[in-house]
Amino acid sequence: MGCGPGMLTPEAARVIRGASLIYGSARAIELARDAIPPECEVHEITDYRGLRSLPAHAVVLSTGDPMLAGLGYLPGEVVPGISSLQVAFARLKVPLARAAVVSAHGKDHARAVADAREEVMRGKVVFLIADPAFDVGALAAALPPETRLAVCEDLGYPAERVAVGTGAEPPAPRGDLFVVVAGEF
Ligand SMILES: C[S@@+](CC[C@H](N)C(=O)[O-])C[C@H]1O[C@@H](n2cnc3c(N)ncnc32)[C@H](O)[C@@H]1O
Repeated sequence: MGCGPGMLTPEAARVIRGASLIYGSARAIELARDAIPPECEVHEITDYRGLRSLPAHAVVLSTGDPMLAGLGYLPGEVVPGISSLQVAFARLKVPLARAAVVSAHGKDHARAVADAREEVMRGKVVFLIADPAFDVGALAAALPPETRLAVCEDLGYPAERVAVGTGAEPPAPRGDLFVVVAGEF
């Protein structure tokens, strides 16, 4: 879907326009809205475990890029999308070659913080996929105080906000949809 409005690629839009059965989160369905044909059956996903047994013609919507903590693990063809990683690094003008991806989404946050610290100490710019419960202050406290730390929220949406601080003075997220970028950038 891309991670925000206007990021649906022509390839993904073509697949959606040809679909008769679609599954997606409420946010993904909203992002795809204009491309979904009127006669298409659309289901909001309630049980992610059930997705493995969908019929072969089902189209599953995944926000951002399906291979970045998305639904690309499901059987079938993957159509790539514009990820929150791409948008965050574009906004901050950091080359993607410097990125180390750490996912804290629905995972052990303490482990993610330890991994992020290790990557920053190695000179990488950490892109951390958060979830609403992720504590930016705990990450900041684990980093050298001068480390730059950005909270990138609602990327691509009208409410987009990119706030840059440091390990000593980290910005706080205002909402639930955010990623964190940390390192020397
Ligand atoms: C399940 S992951 C999916 C990531 C997605 N596949 C991608 O490529 O961006 C969901 C997390 O991605 C991040 N995310 C996705 N879209 C975002 C956006 N528009 N702005 C900020 N963060 C976003 C947030 O950390 C969110 O909790």
